[in-house]
Amino acid sequence: MEKGYWLNRWKRGDTGWHQTEAEPRMTDYFSSLAPARVFVPLCGKSLDLKWLLEHGHEVIGVELSELACREFYREHSIPFRESQCGRFTVFRGERITVLNGDFFELEPSSLLQFGGQIGAVYDRAALIAMPPDIRARYARHMIQLLQGAGRDENFRFLQIVLERTPHDEKGPPFSVCLSEIESLYGAYFKIRALSREQLEEATSECVYELYPR
Ligand SMILES: C[S@@+](CC[C@H](N)C(=O)[O-])C[C@H]1O[C@@H](n2cnc3c(N)ncnc32)[C@H](O)[C@@H]1O
Repeated sequence: MEKGYWLNRWKRGDTGWHQTEAEPRMTDYFSSLAPARVFVPLCGKSLDLKWLLEHGHEVIGVELSELACREFYREHSIPFRESQCGRFTVFRGERITVLNGDFFELEPSSLLQFGGQIGAVYDRAALIAMPPDIRARYARHMIQLLQGAGRDENFRFLQIVLERTPHDEKGPPFSVCLSEIESLYGAYFKIRALSREQLEEATSECVYELYPR
């Protein structure tokens, strides 16, 4: 999608993906993990960031919309310092950094600069925000970031997607099935299906765990 598409949605308050509680699949999963440094791509102002923080994790997010970043810190009264790092505005609080800018311009050195190697990735509504022709680029960039910044020994990756049957190319959110996740990430990660819940007649929410081969 064009950047303007997302910025306009934030400006209009048209943020139907934003949940008013932390995502239960995420809380179930991360409750059983030791505190980790969690990278959250396309993080919006998700309450999941706050939950991770409150449960001992360190958070590094990247988000295109400055409005979303500012609202996140304001709504949760989290003190932060603001600085510039290349093309990113950096909102830095205690154990949480949100980099405001384009995921595709993020470099491993920025992840390292703001904390160190990555213990986990949490992707909800990020991969499925990308149209089909951009998803391979998104996954390649994710892998480059993880290779460049380094991963903890017990690295984990929680991937939540929507899947529509029959598959269609409408979106966002776009439908992403297991075979596509395998082709995007299968060379680097083993993939385990954790749950599948039917949300509507033709739409299911599917949760996968990716872990190093
Ligand atoms: C569907 S929302 C999901 C937000 C969040 N993950 C959640 O669960 O609430 C997608 C988010 O990605 C952001 N976004 C889209 N393209 C981006 C890009 N290239 N770099 C960084 N953020 C981007 C949008 O501004 C939007 O907040």
